Amino acid sequence: MAARRRSVAIFLLLACFTCRWCSSMAGSGSSEQEADRDRVGRLPGQPASPGVSQFAGYVAVNEQHGRALFYWFFEAQATPSSKKPLLLWLNGGPGCSSIGYGAASELGPLRVVRQGAALEFNQYGWNKEANLLFLESPVGVGFSYTNTSSDLTNLNDDFVAEDAYSFLVNWFKRFPQYKDNEFYISGESYAGHYVPQLADLVYERNKDKKASTYINLKGFIVGNPITNDYYDSKGLAEFAWSHAVISDQVYERIKKVCNFKNSNWTEDCNSAMNIIFSQYHEIDIYNIYAPKCLLDHTSASSADRTFFANDPEQFRTRIRMFSGYDPCYSSYAEDYFNKDEVQETFHAKASGQLPGKWQVCSDQILNSYNFSVLSVLPIYSKLIKAGLRVWLYSGDADGRVPVIGSRYCVEALGLPIKTDWQSWYLDKQVAGRFVEYHGMTMVTVRGAGHLVPLNKPAEGLLLINTFLRGEQLPSRR
Ligand SMILES: *[C@@H]1O[C@H](CO)[C@@H](O)[C@H](O)[C@H]1NC(C)=O
Ligand SMILES: *[C@@H]1O[C@H](CO)[C@@H](O)[C@H](O)[C@H]1NC(C)=O
Ligand SMILES: *[C@@H]1O[C@H](CO)[C@@H](O)[C@H](O)[C@H]1NC(C)=O
Repeated sequence: MAARRRSVAIFLLLACFTCRWCSSMAGSGSSEQEADRDRVGRLPGQPASPGVSQFAGYVAVNEQHGRALFYWFFEAQATPSSKKPLLLWLNGGPGCSSIGYGAASELGPLRVVRQGAALEFNQYGWNKEANLLFLESPVGVGFSYTNTSSDLTNLNDDFVAEDAYSFLVNWFKRFPQYKDNEFYISGESYAGHYVPQLADLVYERNKDKKASTYINLKGFIVGNPITNDYYDSKGLAEFAWSHAVISDQVYERIKKVCNFKNSNWTEDCNSAMNIIFSQYHEIDIYNIYAPKCLLDHTSASSADRTFFANDPEQFRTRIRMFSGYDPCYSSYAEDYFNKDEVQETFHAKASGQLPGKWQVCSDQILNSYNFSVLSVLPIYSKLIKAGLRVWLYSGDADGRVPVIGSRYCVEALGLPIKTDWQSWYLDKQVAGRFVEYHGMTMVTVRGAGHLVPLNKPAEGLLLINTFLRGEQLPSRR
């Protein structure tokens, strides 16, 4: 397992949470004060307008060990925001930050610009129709920390879900005015584990409907999600072959030596699969038709250095090939969130516990994480039966968690089809395809990679708003 995981040591990005903050008068004086202390006026480099109502800070999740998770929260832009749902977003990794990816690079209303010089307003921010909550999870990721260092080597899916659940319970104490809002959980990549697992934990703990910790969970949505080890691995190999990344011979060899039903890959399988990963080192595995970031200082791309890295002219030339898309977004987040004045305004100095720089992804967490769960499909079956709204979307140009594997996963649930596979549209163009089952919806986003809201912002916003309203995607031009 370890050998295999190392060979796949390419970061999975994931999860962020969104939610909104309503202005009802509920809540004790102390929670209002706590919430008030978390209010962020204006961050360094933030545009003067439009105004953004935001909060950031720590929520303790375990007093004995001294664990605290960091969040960034945006009220819905639409008024009245108090009736809008609360959406939590989680990035994956394990070890990647929902603030660095989800909030600052993908779907937040404020995104970091080049070189981390400032923030820009994102007109496709997912807080248009939802109150949006980003959580850095688990401890060891981003600003989230623990005072008990042994926690960092005990991380697995159960640990992550328990802490995220404690976070929610305590966050709602601080922001009680959101307790009655519809609550949804979202995320991408390895959050394909976190999201359904957290939904399951909330569902189980909700069985006491009168408990003060009741959470008004209505559903979840995941993007390019790690879901089932067997189907995802099979899909990764098939996608690489069907998208001309590897030769017929390599693909034949993989089919011969790899039994993906065994999660512990053999040496032969490891070396065959490493041919795929070495090909993907040349391009961006997360978005196979996009340019690759050739800056060498982001933690997310540390595994992907190339000899172009120190050649700015090469870099600029390559960048220009695809105007409008900047592949180096995650390094800009590291530039921005390591500024003292940013951390000050952001209430991220409170810990003093950070071992070093704020990183968009933590190698330490990735390498020590105990991958003990191989499939979350049983949770899908359970929560679909329980009536939660469940959507899975997939950018169809992602080589890391490819659409092929996700299709196998959804098909394996054996749900009856409600509406056949068909196109959905934005601005008279095919934005992707979708299929509705009795119990869940699967959506593809045409030409998007692993980070759908980054690659296809308008499509991403339409998708999330349609999900939140419980509607069907536009099936006419
Ligand atoms: C961690 O330790 C520091 C220093 O003792 C303390 O100020 C902080 O409150 C602790 N964090 C938690 C979550 O208990
Ligand atoms: C995985 O396979 C390797 C050899 O390919 C073996 O040494 C190792 O013990 C196996 N690990 C598990 C957990 O089965
Ligand atoms: C990983 O987690 C599983 C399940 O929780 C546990 O049985 C196993 O001992 C853990 N392995 C390590 C190395 O901590």
